[in-house]
Amino acid sequence: MRAKVIIDKEYRVGQVDKRLFGSFIEHLGRAVYGGIFEPGHPTADSNGFRGDVLELVRELNVPVVRYPGGSYVSSFRWEDSVGPVGKRPRRLDLAWRSVEPNSFGLGEFVRWAQAAKTEVMMAINLGTRGIEAARNLVEYCNHPQGSYWSDLRRAHGSKDPFEVKLWCLGNEMDGPWQVGQKTADEYGRIANETAKAVKLFDPGLQLVACGSSSGRMPTFPQWDATVLEHCYESVDYLSLHQYHKNHEDDLLRFLAASVGMDRYIDSVVATCDFTKAKKRSSKTMMLSFDEWNVWFHSDEADGKAVPWQVGPHLLEDVYTMEDALVVGCLINSLLRHADRVKIACLAQLVNVIAPIMTENGGRAWRQTIYWPFCYASRHGRGTSLNVRIDAPCYESRDFGEVPNLDAAAVCDEDGSTLSIFCVNRSREATELDLRAVGFENIALVEHIELRHDDLKATNTAADPRRVTPKSLQIAREPRLAPLSYNLLRYAVGTAGH
Ligand code: AHR
Repeated sequence: MRAKVIIDKEYRVGQVDKRLFGSFIEHLGRAVYGGIFEPGHPTADSNGFRGDVLELVRELNVPVVRYPGGSYVSSFRWEDSVGPVGKRPRRLDLAWRSVEPNSFGLGEFVRWAQAAKTEVMMAINLGTRGIEAARNLVEYCNHPQGSYWSDLRRAHGSKDPFEVKLWCLGNEMDGPWQVGQKTADEYGRIANETAKAVKLFDPGLQLVACGSSSGRMPTFPQWDATVLEHCYESVDYLSLHQYHKNHEDDLLRFLAASVGMDRYIDSVVATCDFTKAKKRSSKTMMLSFDEWNVWFHSDEADGKAVPWQVGPHLLEDVYTMEDALVVGCLINSLLRHADRVKIACLAQLVNVIAPIMTENGGRAWRQTIYWPFCYASRHGRGTSLNVRIDAPCYESRDFGEVPNLDAAAVCDEDGSTLSIFCVNRSREATELDLRAVGFENIALVEHIELRHDDLKATNTAADPRRVTPKSLQIAREPRLAPLSYNLLRYAVGTAGH
């Protein structure tokens, strides 16, 4: 098979915001306890932060991490998670039916984020709480000193403000599974009033309002339109969440997931722009795709009741080679929408539907999905270009004709490297015919391939490198192996203009 990929240096989607490569740590399962935090682990530092996990997180180059939920945040009392550890209360978390010891809290996460070289995206509880708790939290985090909450932070040992710039106004507030679910009008009102209070404190803070918790909600997109009706001018981003499943083991259907993501983003953009027109606003709403991933392997195990405990094994999806292909396609979709999607969080980061897995007291390793995310994060920064694909298609169950090739293209900041991210959805090898208009003297300098003969192959503690990328020999017309993920990096010579 041959596939033509046409790009033009002048046909830009937009600048890629580095926060497109964000991730997420929730107080859920073993994300925190046994994941990023495990005092006594052989690699743990004096804070209890696992060094092996930190190393893998740094390798992923994640610029922002959302915290502390997710559904967890909807009944989170932030005051429980600060101050002397011995005095913090143990609470029952209703979202995940787990015991929360609060031995890792807000200050610990800020310190962990510094060690991981990432920024904090902090979520506010708008389920069981409201404006008062939110304004106190913002003051605790960001005010230098000389007020009750900022001085309390200092008394807790953090002299410098945390300087958290990005705040989520609640989480999935349309979801019946959420503690404190709200109607769109109820949520829109409280989101707007909370946004006003936060911006009175500091107009420079950036706020994300909850859109629908998925495009499959029966109330989508009316929920989003109603929420925006209330808070369009006071927030900066609208959130989207989407998880992909393959319960029926239908590979071609599963591989079309990114078409679903493209359409979902387009619908949310249309909804935002409808509100913009209705309000005669000059502001264009940007999007925060702050939960996305494949999530279904652990569904059955998670359906079984477990006793209340700290750090239970929950949502521990073990990802396959085919999941890595889908994640490669999904991140391409985000890059193709870089003009409107400015923040995205792979949900999540460690142990819970995550690219990084750990054993309690043991090893940490990279899951299959780690690789496409890592390559996009490392090489997908710069300008996203429009990609036209001319390739044979297949008929997908949900979206009609889907091309056998999924691709995104990014030219780096200084214009010296063009990176093309490709997933070959076909069972046939594909010769890639790249037409790069406006780029002169380009030469392929690197071809990384991720593939495995067994599409169900996984990485485990016993065999952590079973699915590992390899560097291929450079060919004039690169060959994309059947069902493979590929990063093609071209050195760019003298530009055409
Ligand atoms: O990421 C896991 C859960 O999925 C989050 O807590 C929630 O926001 C979503 O439903």
